[in-house]
Amino acid sequence: MRNLFIGIDSGTQSTKVLVVNAANGKVLGEASQAYNLLPDLPPGAKEQNPETWRGATSKCIRKALKAAKAKSSEVRAIGISGQQHGFVALDKKGEVIRPAKLWCDTATIAECEQITDALGGKKKTIKALGNAVLPGFTASKILWLKNNEPKNFKKLATVLLPHDYLNFWLTGRAVMEYGDASGTALMDVRKRKWCDKAIKAIDADLGDKLPDLMSSDQPVGNLSAAAAKELGLSTDVIVSAGGGDNMMGAIGTGNTEEGVITASFGTSGTIYACAEKPVVDPLGEIAAFCDSTNRWLPLLCTMNVTVATEMCRNEFGWDHKKFMKEIAKVPAGSDGLIMIPYLEGERTPNVPDGTGVYFGVNNRTFGPTHYARAAMEGVTLGMNYGLRRLADLGVRATQVRATGGGAKSKLWRQVMADVFNAELVTLKVSEGAAYGGALQALWCWRNQQGEKVSITDITNEYVQLNHRETTEPIEDNVEIYDELQLLQTEVSESLRGAFKRHRAIVAG
Ligand code: XUL
Repeated sequence: MRNLFIGIDSGTQSTKVLVVNAANGKVLGEASQAYNLLPDLPPGAKEQNPETWRGATSKCIRKALKAAKAKSSEVRAIGISGQQHGFVALDKKGEVIRPAKLWCDTATIAECEQITDALGGKKKTIKALGNAVLPGFTASKILWLKNNEPKNFKKLATVLLPHDYLNFWLTGRAVMEYGDASGTALMDVRKRKWCDKAIKAIDADLGDKLPDLMSSDQPVGNLSAAAAKELGLSTDVIVSAGGGDNMMGAIGTGNTEEGVITASFGTSGTIYACAEKPVVDPLGEIAAFCDSTNRWLPLLCTMNVTVATEMCRNEFGWDHKKFMKEIAKVPAGSDGLIMIPYLEGERTPNVPDGTGVYFGVNNRTFGPTHYARAAMEGVTLGMNYGLRRLADLGVRATQVRATGGGAKSKLWRQVMADVFNAELVTLKVSEGAAYGGALQALWCWRNQQGEKVSITDITNEYVQLNHRETTEPIEDNVEIYDELQLLQTEVSESLRGAFKRHRAIVAG
C-alpha cells in the first residue's frame, strides 16, 4: 500500500495541487485551476472571495488524486500553502463576511500610519513586533475594515489568513501556525506571541478575534466528516499546520538550514533564508518572519515580478516562446533602458503608491523588445536590492535556489545569476510551495506515527536539484547590472514625491 501526501498551493492567480509518493518523493498526480482578482475595485484595492480558493482546492484535489490513480485509503496527510497576509473575516457562524483584502492590496497606507503612530513610531513598532507595519501585512487591513465598513467590522468574530481559512474548512478548527501568523504584523516574532500593543492600536476587542497560535510541526486536525465526504477521502487523513507560500516554498526548495537562499519568481518576488534566530532589520525593509518549521525566515518581497513580464507579453501579443526569442535580441542591460517596476505599488522599497516607469527611453530603446527585456531585468534588479540588504544583515548567498514561473526560462535564469552575481540552481520539482506542503504533511504524519524526524532530514531525503539548469554568472554582465542597480535605486528614490502626487491625481 502506498503512502500518499497532498500538497496544495493556494495562490493569487491559481491553485495547484500535487500528490506525492512518500516512497521516493515523486509527484504522481497534479492539477491546477486559475482565477482572477475581483474586478472594478478602487485604485490599490486587491480582493478575492475565499470561497473561490476553497472551490478550486476541492476540485484540484479530486483531479490530482485521479491523475495519481490514488485510492482514498492511500492518502495520509494534506499540507496547505497559501498566499500570505490576506485578511479573511469570519462572523460568529464561521461564514465569510466580505471578500479578503490580499497581500498586494495597497489601499491601507493611512491605516499603517495610524497603527505605527499608536505604537510610538517606526522604531518602536519594529521593537514591539520585529516588523514595520506595511500595507501588505494583515494588521492595517483589519483597521481598514473598522474605519471603512463599521457594519462588517461589528460582525467580525474570527480573523484568519488564506491558508488558515482552508485548514478551517478541512478540519473545523480555526488556528494560526507561527510562520503565516508572523506576517500579520500583530505578532511579536521574537517571542512568537500576539502583541498586545499592536492589537490595541486597532481595537480593544481584537484580541478575542485572533485565533490561538500553534507550533508549525503539529497537525491542525483530521479531515472533518463533511470535508472528507466532499473530497472522497477518509477522516483518518490529517491536515498539517501548513503555512504562507514563502514558508512552504522554503521547505519545498530544501531551505531548512542556514546558508541556503531561495528566490521565488512568481506574481511577486521573494528572497528568503532559513535562520535559527530572528533576523530583525532596524530599517524594516527585510521582513522578520517566522518559518513554518518553528524557526525564522528573513524575507524580502517585491510586489511585481511576473506582473511586469506578463503585462508586456500580453500587450505585445506574444506567447512565452516568442517572448524569450524577442528579448534574446536585446543585449544584457537593454542598452540602458531601466524599468522601475512598481506596477502594483511596491513593498521593498516601501513605495505603496508607486507606479511603473521606463527610464532611458530613446529611439534605440523605444519598442517592444527593449521594453520586455527591461521589464525582466528591472524586476530582477528589484529583488537584488533585497538580496543586498539581506547581506547587510549578515545573510549571504553564494548559491541561490530559484523557483516559481520565472525560473522556468533559461534566459531569465542567466539574468538572475548575473544580477545576483551568484550560482543559480533550480529544483527537480519546480512547484516549491505545493511540494513544501506535501513534505510538511509527510513530516507531521511521520512524527505523529512516533518517529522522531526533523524537517531537514525530510528535505535532504526528498528535495533534489536539477543540475542541468545550474547557471553561473557572466562577469561582463555582472558589471553592467551592477551599474544599472545603482541607477535604478537612484531613479526610484528621486521619484518618491512624484509617486505620491500621482496617486492623489489618479484617486481624484
Ligand atoms: C510575501 C508576500 C507575497 C505573497 C504572495 O510577504 O506578500 O509573496 O505571499 O502570495
